[in-house]
Amino acid sequence: LAESVDVMHGHEHVGAGDRLPHGGRLREAARRYGIPLDAWLDLSTGINPRPWLVPAIPVSAWARLPEDEDGLIDAARAYYEAPHVLPVTGSQAAIQALPPLRTPCRVGIITPGYAEHARAWQRAGHEVAAVPVASLGEAARQVDVLVVIHPNNPTGDRFAVETLLDWHAGLAARKGWLVVDEAFMDPTPADSLAAYCARPGLIVLRSLGKFFGLAGARVGFVLAESALLERLAEALGLWPLPGPSRAVAAEALADARWQSATRTALPEASARLAQFLSAHGLAPAGGCALFQWVVTPEAPAIHEALARQGILTRLFHDPVSLRFGLPGTEQDWARVQATITGSCKEASPA
Ligand SMILES: Cc1ncc(COP(=O)(O)O)c(C=O)c1O
Repeated sequence: LAESVDVMHGHEHVGAGDRLPHGGRLREAARRYGIPLDAWLDLSTGINPRPWLVPAIPVSAWARLPEDEDGLIDAARAYYEAPHVLPVTGSQAAIQALPPLRTPCRVGIITPGYAEHARAWQRAGHEVAAVPVASLGEAARQVDVLVVIHPNNPTGDRFAVETLLDWHAGLAARKGWLVVDEAFMDPTPADSLAAYCARPGLIVLRSLGKFFGLAGARVGFVLAESALLERLAEALGLWPLPGPSRAVAAEALADARWQSATRTALPEASARLAQFLSAHGLAPAGGCALFQWVVTPEAPAIHEALARQGILTRLFHDPVSLRFGLPGTEQDWARVQATITGSCKEASPA
């Protein structure tokens, strides 16, 4: 196993206060580069740029207290094909609420990956090891909790359902947990562990922020055995999700026609992006239907050159790399293509 990492010092770019950096911080970019907010093209996240379009929200959703029986749970059970689901305010809420449910233990977490997992487990006093993909199987036999992001962000690594279930079986036999963060799983539901979530020690996290493009609604779900969901619900308190978010999520989860069209459109857009990047010497090292990941020593220079022209990408330092989200409109594509063509010349003159 890799050595334990101190999340705060293991990352070079720590955000405001002691917050970790994230994509999507357009206002900060606008300030830093002196470019007005509405002139930016934000490719810094893995959020679908063509979100599910929110209809008028019934006044009752604003005016009444949320009720468990409003249809959201049934819609989520049907969409995820999972027996037990708990709505949470974004999967981030679950990432933060899970670690305190266990007494201090050994936790292995996929690296590189969405850094909030390591931070949350470390904060709750657990011994955290950053585990490269190749060592996850070994880690599954040694730790008490294994956290996998599937598909991984930003590397795009994927795992066979059988492999994950095998890791889970070993962990569960020792009363351990396998936590699978499936924030980017919606385009490929066949790879999800959702259907197995009644098995003790298996915890699946889902999000409406990525595929549905509803990051601002702050809706996510935890799929796990009922006993664990009850403990989590207790920890999160009464009415974790606002009525309007519940109403929007229930409709989005039920919109099979939009989902099916989007399941086709996103991989096509992502392949188009990969192809374009490759043609400009930026062949992605990984990615999924919602982003492409490019590992290159030129990443900081390219990030800077694009930002100076109002295109925000996500820069990582370990390894030095860039994540590109999808452009939304043809106009956005044209702008990205023109700017990258120019910036590549600028960043690495022939
Ligand atoms: C892998 C992964 N999991 C979870 C989250 C949290 O998303 P949300 O709280 O919007 O569901 C993110 C956000 O970037 C992410 O990248």
